[in-house]
Amino acid sequence: MAHKKIAVIPGDGIGPEVIREGLKVLDAVSKVSDFSYEKVDYDFSGERYLRTGELIPDSAISELRQMDAIYLGAVGHPGVKTGVLEKEVLLRLRFELDLYINLRPIKLYPGVQTPLRDKGPKDIDFVVVRENTEGLYIGVGGFFKKGTPDEIATQEMINTRKGVERCIRYAFDYTRARNQKKKLTLCDKSNVLTYAHDLWQRVFKEVGAEYPDIQKDHAHVDATCMWMVKNPEWFDVIVTCNMFGDIITDLGAAIQGGMGIAASGNINPTGVSMFEPIHGSAPKYAGKNVINPLATICAGQMMLDFLGEKQASALLEKAIADALASGRLKDLSANSGVSTTEVGDMIVDYVFRAAGSKS
Ligand code: IPM
Ligand code: MN
Repeated sequence: MAHKKIAVIPGDGIGPEVIREGLKVLDAVSKVSDFSYEKVDYDFSGERYLRTGELIPDSAISELRQMDAIYLGAVGHPGVKTGVLEKEVLLRLRFELDLYINLRPIKLYPGVQTPLRDKGPKDIDFVVVRENTEGLYIGVGGFFKKGTPDEIATQEMINTRKGVERCIRYAFDYTRARNQKKKLTLCDKSNVLTYAHDLWQRVFKEVGAEYPDIQKDHAHVDATCMWMVKNPEWFDVIVTCNMFGDIITDLGAAIQGGMGIAASGNINPTGVSMFEPIHGSAPKYAGKNVINPLATICAGQMMLDFLGEKQASALLEKAIADALASGRLKDLSANSGVSTTEVGDMIVDYVFRAAGSKS
């Protein structure tokens, strides 16, 4: 396997701490597999913005396009107005690099506790394919008569035929390749969003005709939330719009053991992709060495997979599963009593064990 160039953006708050553990684990994996990499650091963050007034220089965007992958910690700084870093760093990267899929696996590993009574690892194992470049996120809208009693505020949900189709097509291909229940559920609100989600319905049906081997299902977003709690075993892959994907994957994180383990890939299937935990920068925990870095480590595992480093990815997945099965990490929250660095060290240990048991 060729040497990989990975851009690393630790970001703010706990971002640098979890990324440090993620890189520690990748280093271990590279010692015992064919995977080798070099990292290129980028300090885009609220902290840099406050210091220099700069968010992401345009030149950096072109540099990032030349990378094999991007590994991101978290952005969000209490000193910066809400929305600035989200829009100018995270969403800018998603939009400009055309990372049009946000892939979010919801998997309960054996040894991890779920708040769902009577549900276990065999029940909670599905993937959300979230559209990542359109919908309510693109910032079309504005104010009229702001600050007056007659104020109007609008924010439009933009759905393009091209954007919806490429997302749905990706989800069908993904469901086929995943080869589990071979079932794809469209999650929308077509009973109310009778234009925007009518488009999703029509495209789902049309594209779906090309996938006779895939079972098609549908659930409105409110019902999806209910089924994710009552019968998560019904799901295999869910495809949905940007905003609903954002919301249901926080619920997904909760049922898979919490934000401490929920990872995601912002995917451009023909370009560079970016991998990150779905949690934020959690400033109140910054520098305390208490946040669980597993979500970032799991994002690193997704990154290896997407880089085509199948051996390295399988090894890391086994290490994560074995560490969790040991029961030493039942609680993945900031109050688990196991420190950020201890979790990183533990996974490194299991990487070496996994490599040893293979040879
Ligand atoms: C996520 C986050 C982001 C989103 C925020 C930080 C803009 O919540 O990745 O889920 O809404 O997409
Ligand atoms: Mn979110």
